Amino acid sequence: MKPYIICHMVSSVDGKIDGAALSSVMADGEYEATGSKLKGDAWICGRTTMQQHFAQKKPFVSVSKKPAGPRPVFVAHRAKSYAISVDTLGKLRWSGGDLDGDHLICVVSEKAPEDYLDMLRQKGISYVVAGKSSVDLRKAVDQLGKYFGIRTLLLEGGGHINGAFLQAGLVDELSLLVVPGIDGRHDIAAVFDGLSQAKKKAVPLRLKSLERRRGDTLWLRYEVARSKRAQIRGLLPP
Ligand SMILES: NC(=O)c1ccc[n+]([C@@H]2O[C@H](COP(=O)([O-])OP(=O)(O)OC[C@H]3O[C@@H](n4cnc5c(N)ncnc54)[C@H](OP(=O)(O)O)[C@@H]3O)[C@@H](O)[C@H]2O)c1
Repeated sequence: MKPYIICHMVSSVDGKIDGAALSSVMADGEYEATGSKLKGDAWICGRTTMQQHFAQKKPFVSVSKKPAGPRPVFVAHRAKSYAISVDTLGKLRWSGGDLDGDHLICVVSEKAPEDYLDMLRQKGISYVVAGKSSVDLRKAVDQLGKYFGIRTLLLEGGGHINGAFLQAGLVDELSLLVVPGIDGRHDIAAVFDGLSQAKKKAVPLRLKSLERRRGDTLWLRYEVARSKRAQIRGLLPP
């Protein structure tokens, strides 16, 4: 049931992902043009990215403050393409179930308040509840495949949700646009961030393709190498 997951990102040559900083060195439309070649039927982002770019400014405030607990998947309707948020506690406020033409699905944990789920249902927004106190990403993506028919999922950042997907062994491919610029700031997220300090070895990748794009941008596509040897050496979960 698990969709094929491609992490699609833009970064500076030093691996930083602050979109505002990178826009000055990036050719317009390259992220979207390369992304459309990946033929995803859904895209997914972490709460911070959704808050910055897509959700309403003010967060949701629960009246009941009662955690929802385990709940069945709510399918408001099936669609050709989906936008998905990963929001552990149900903080993001949405105006409706459509995000730039994609049907919205909110992935939350059992700690999200029940009145948050009520609000989603009233607005025609689908949801998946997976994990007790944090989102169980493996369970969530299995449910996305099973209930919504998602086959190719584009993981579109930011760095911390990408890191969590990678650490869970869920990333199949990386599609990376390296733009001709250096960021260099310490506190800016990297393409994959927040992985456990205990993980001291790089996750091995295999180059699939390399293309020079407009404005001296490089489009790199890598497969995550899931060799038996990598698993035995503890580089990747089985
Ligand atoms: N260059 C690019 O291609 C690109 C693409 C996208 C974003 N960005 C940039 O990336 C920056 C934001 O990145 P970010 O790394 O700070 O945030 P992020 O990855 O967008 O979101 C992280 C948040 O997602 C939620 N989350 C839910 N389940 C999680 C899990 N299992 N593991 C980790 N997080 C989980 C957590 O918030 P809760 O605990 O509240 O749920 C967490 O704080 C922004 O500056 C944005 O513009 C760049």
